[in-house]
Amino acid sequence: MKKILILNGAGKKNGNTAAMIRAFSEAAKENGNEIQEFWLQTMDIHGCMNCGGCHKKEKGSAEPCVQKDDMYRIYPAFREAEVIVFASPVYWWDITGTLKTAIDRLYAPMVTASGGSPKQIVLLMTSGGSPIDHVLDWCQNLKSWLHWKLVGSAMNDVEQAKQIGEGIQ
Ligand SMILES: Cc1cc2nc3c(=O)[nH]c(=O)nc-3n(C[C@H](O)[C@H](O)[C@H](O)COP(=O)(O)O)c2cc1C
Repeated sequence: MKKILILNGAGKKNGNTAAMIRAFSEAAKENGNEIQEFWLQTMDIHGCMNCGGCHKKEKGSAEPCVQKDDMYRIYPAFREAEVIVFASPVYWWDITGTLKTAIDRLYAPMVTASGGSPKQIVLLMTSGGSPIDHVLDWCQNLKSWLHWKLVGSAMNDVEQAKQIGEGIQ
Protein backbone atom coordinates (compact mmCIF):
# COMPACT_ATOMS: atom_id res chain seq x y z
CA MET A 1 0.00 0.00 0.00
CA LYS A 2 1.37 3.40 -0.98
CA LYS A 3 0.37 6.98 -0.31
CA ILE A 4 -0.26 8.74 -3.60
CA LEU A 5 -0.50 12.47 -4.19
CA ILE A 6 -2.16 13.60 -7.42
CA LEU A 7 -1.52 17.15 -8.57
CA ASN A 8 -4.20 17.82 -11.18
CA GLY A 9 -3.19 20.71 -13.41
CA ALA A 10 -6.19 20.57 -15.74
CA GLY A 11 -8.41 23.57 -16.26
CA LYS A 12 -11.47 21.47 -17.00
CA LYS A 13 -13.25 19.49 -14.29
CA ASN A 14 -14.50 16.59 -16.39
CA GLY A 15 -12.20 16.70 -19.39
CA ASN A 16 -9.67 14.32 -20.90
CA THR A 17 -7.13 14.68 -18.08
CA ALA A 18 -9.81 13.97 -15.49
CA ALA A 19 -10.65 10.75 -17.36
CA MET A 20 -6.99 9.66 -17.15
CA ILE A 21 -6.86 10.50 -13.45
CA ARG A 22 -10.09 8.59 -12.82
CA ALA A 23 -8.80 5.44 -14.55
CA PHE A 24 -5.50 5.62 -12.66
CA SER A 25 -7.14 6.30 -9.29
CA GLU A 26 -9.79 3.61 -9.50
CA ALA A 27 -7.13 1.00 -10.33
CA ALA A 28 -4.73 2.24 -7.66
CA LYS A 29 -7.47 2.24 -4.99
CA GLU A 30 -8.33 -1.37 -5.86
CA ASN A 31 -4.82 -2.26 -4.65
CA GLY A 32 -5.45 -0.54 -1.34
CA ASN A 33 -3.37 2.54 -2.13
CA GLU A 34 -4.34 5.78 -0.44
CA ILE A 35 -4.94 8.73 -2.76
CA GLN A 36 -5.11 12.45 -2.17
CA GLU A 37 -5.93 14.57 -5.20
CA PHE A 38 -5.75 18.33 -5.49
CA TRP A 39 -7.40 20.14 -8.37
CA LEU A 40 -5.04 23.08 -8.61
CA GLN A 41 -7.36 25.19 -10.80
CA THR A 42 -9.62 25.80 -7.80
CA MET A 43 -6.83 26.60 -5.37
CA ASP A 44 -5.11 29.79 -4.29
CA ILE A 45 -1.48 29.10 -5.14
CA HIS A 46 1.04 31.83 -5.79
CA GLY A 47 4.33 31.61 -7.65
CA CYS A 48 7.61 31.01 -5.83
CA MET A 49 9.24 34.39 -5.08
CA ASN A 50 12.76 32.99 -4.71
CA CYS A 51 12.89 34.94 -1.45
CA GLY A 52 15.16 32.36 0.17
CA GLY A 53 12.83 32.11 3.18
CA CYS A 54 12.75 28.32 2.99
CA HIS A 55 16.53 28.17 3.29
CA LYS A 56 16.27 29.88 6.69
CA LYS A 57 13.71 27.39 8.06
CA GLU A 58 14.64 24.47 10.29
CA LYS A 59 14.84 21.01 8.77
CA GLY A 60 11.49 19.25 8.98
CA SER A 61 9.62 22.52 9.46
CA ALA A 62 5.84 22.19 9.16
CA GLU A 63 5.84 25.71 7.70
CA PRO A 64 8.43 25.48 4.93
CA CYS A 65 7.29 28.48 2.86
CA VAL A 66 6.68 32.09 3.88
CA GLN A 67 3.66 32.24 1.54
CA LYS A 68 0.79 30.71 3.48
CA ASP A 69 -1.65 29.96 0.71
CA ASP A 70 -3.29 26.71 -0.40
CA MET A 71 0.09 25.01 -0.83
CA TYR A 72 -0.24 24.47 2.92
CA ARG A 73 -3.01 21.96 2.10
CA ILE A 74 -0.64 20.13 -0.25
CA TYR A 75 2.55 20.17 1.84
CA PRO A 76 1.50 17.51 4.41
CA ALA A 77 0.33 15.19 1.62
CA PHE A 78 3.55 15.83 -0.29
CA ARG A 79 5.70 14.97 2.71
CA GLU A 80 3.93 11.66 3.26
CA ALA A 81 3.46 10.62 -0.37
CA GLU A 82 5.60 7.91 -1.87
CA VAL A 83 4.13 8.45 -5.32
CA ILE A 84 3.51 11.85 -6.91
CA VAL A 85 1.27 12.00 -9.95
CA PHE A 86 1.72 15.00 -12.21
CA ALA A 87 -1.45 15.19 -14.31
CA SER A 88 -1.86 17.85 -16.97
CA PRO A 89 -3.14 18.64 -20.41
CA VAL A 90 -0.53 20.05 -22.78
CA TYR A 91 -0.91 23.82 -22.93
CA TRP A 92 1.44 25.44 -25.42
CA TRP A 93 3.59 22.33 -25.74
CA ASP A 94 4.10 22.04 -21.98
CA ILE A 95 2.42 21.24 -18.67
CA THR A 96 -0.10 23.87 -17.57
CA GLY A 97 0.99 26.95 -15.69
CA THR A 98 -1.10 25.91 -12.68
CA LEU A 99 0.80 22.65 -12.34
CA LYS A 100 4.18 24.30 -12.91
CA THR A 101 3.41 26.95 -10.27
CA ALA A 102 2.58 24.26 -7.69
CA ILE A 103 5.71 22.28 -8.58
CA ASP A 104 7.87 25.39 -8.14
CA ARG A 105 6.42 25.74 -4.65
CA LEU A 106 7.48 22.18 -3.77
CA TYR A 107 10.98 23.62 -3.60
CA ALA A 108 10.32 24.76 -0.01
CA PRO A 109 9.45 21.32 1.45
CA MET A 110 12.32 19.81 -0.51
CA VAL A 111 14.81 22.33 0.89
CA THR A 112 13.56 21.83 4.44
CA ALA A 113 13.13 18.04 4.21
CA SER A 114 14.90 16.07 6.89
CA GLY A 115 15.63 12.84 5.09
CA GLY A 116 12.91 10.67 3.59
CA SER A 117 12.95 8.32 0.63
CA PRO A 118 12.99 9.38 -3.00
CA LYS A 119 9.56 9.80 -4.53
CA GLN A 120 8.16 7.84 -7.43
CA ILE A 121 6.64 9.91 -10.22
CA VAL A 122 3.76 9.16 -12.56
CA LEU A 123 3.01 11.42 -15.49
CA LEU A 124 -0.55 11.53 -16.87
CA MET A 125 -0.97 13.86 -19.82
CA THR A 126 -3.40 14.65 -22.61
CA SER A 127 -2.94 16.78 -25.71
CA GLY A 128 -4.37 17.55 -29.10
CA GLY A 129 -1.42 15.75 -30.65
CA SER A 130 1.76 17.45 -29.43
CA PRO A 131 4.36 15.06 -28.03
CA ILE A 132 5.64 15.30 -24.45
CA ASP A 133 9.28 14.36 -25.02
CA HIS A 134 10.60 17.43 -23.23
CA VAL A 135 8.33 16.75 -20.23
CA LEU A 136 9.84 13.28 -20.03
CA ASP A 137 13.31 14.89 -20.27
CA TRP A 138 12.30 17.12 -17.38
CA CYS A 139 11.41 13.98 -15.37
CA GLN A 140 14.90 12.69 -16.12
CA ASN A 141 16.32 15.86 -14.54
CA LEU A 142 14.22 15.24 -11.43
CA LYS A 143 15.59 11.73 -11.40
CA SER A 144 19.21 12.79 -11.50
CA TRP A 145 18.90 15.76 -9.16
CA LEU A 146 16.49 14.37 -6.55
CA HIS A 147 16.89 10.65 -7.25
CA TRP A 148 13.16 10.43 -7.90
CA LYS A 149 12.02 7.66 -10.21
CA LEU A 150 9.58 7.87 -13.13
CA VAL A 151 7.48 4.72 -12.71
CA GLY A 152 4.97 5.31 -15.48
CA SER A 153 3.72 7.77 -18.06
CA ALA A 154 0.59 7.79 -20.17
CA MET A 155 -0.43 10.15 -22.92
CA ASN A 156 -4.02 10.32 -24.23
CA ASP A 157 -4.42 6.71 -23.14
CA VAL A 158 -6.94 5.89 -20.42
CA GLU A 159 -6.17 2.17 -20.53
CA GLN A 160 -2.48 2.84 -19.96
CA ALA A 161 -3.33 5.15 -17.04
CA LYS A 162 -5.35 2.30 -15.54
CA GLN A 163 -2.46 -0.12 -15.99
CA ILE A 164 -0.06 2.24 -14.22
CA GLY A 165 -2.54 2.45 -11.33
CA GLU A 166 -2.75 -1.32 -11.19
CA GLY A 167 1.04 -1.51 -10.97
CA ILE A 168 1.29 0.56 -7.80
CA GLN A 169 1.21 -1.50 -4.64
C1 LIG B 1 -4.61 27.01 -23.61
C2 LIG B 1 -4.51 25.70 -24.35
C3 LIG B 1 -3.33 25.39 -24.99
C4 LIG B 1 -3.19 24.16 -25.64
N1 LIG B 1 -1.99 23.86 -26.25
C5 LIG B 1 -1.86 22.67 -26.87
C6 LIG B 1 -0.62 22.31 -27.49
O1 LIG B 1 0.37 23.05 -27.47
N2 LIG B 1 -0.52 21.10 -28.08
C7 LIG B 1 -1.58 20.23 -28.13
O2 LIG B 1 -1.45 19.16 -28.70
N3 LIG B 1 -2.76 20.55 -27.55
C8 LIG B 1 -2.93 21.73 -26.92
N4 LIG B 1 -4.12 22.04 -26.32
C9 LIG B 1 -5.20 21.02 -26.30
C10 LIG B 1 -5.26 20.26 -24.98
O3 LIG B 1 -3.99 19.80 -24.57
C11 LIG B 1 -6.17 19.02 -25.10
O4 LIG B 1 -7.42 19.36 -25.61
C12 LIG B 1 -6.30 18.34 -23.75
O5 LIG B 1 -6.78 17.03 -23.92
C13 LIG B 1 -7.27 19.11 -22.83
O6 LIG B 1 -7.38 18.42 -21.61
P1 LIG B 1 -8.65 18.61 -20.65
O7 LIG B 1 -9.84 18.02 -21.41
O8 LIG B 1 -8.33 17.88 -19.42
O9 LIG B 1 -8.82 20.08 -20.44
C14 LIG B 1 -4.28 23.27 -25.68
C15 LIG B 1 -5.49 23.61 -25.04
C16 LIG B 1 -5.61 24.82 -24.40
C17 LIG B 1 -6.91 25.18 -23.71
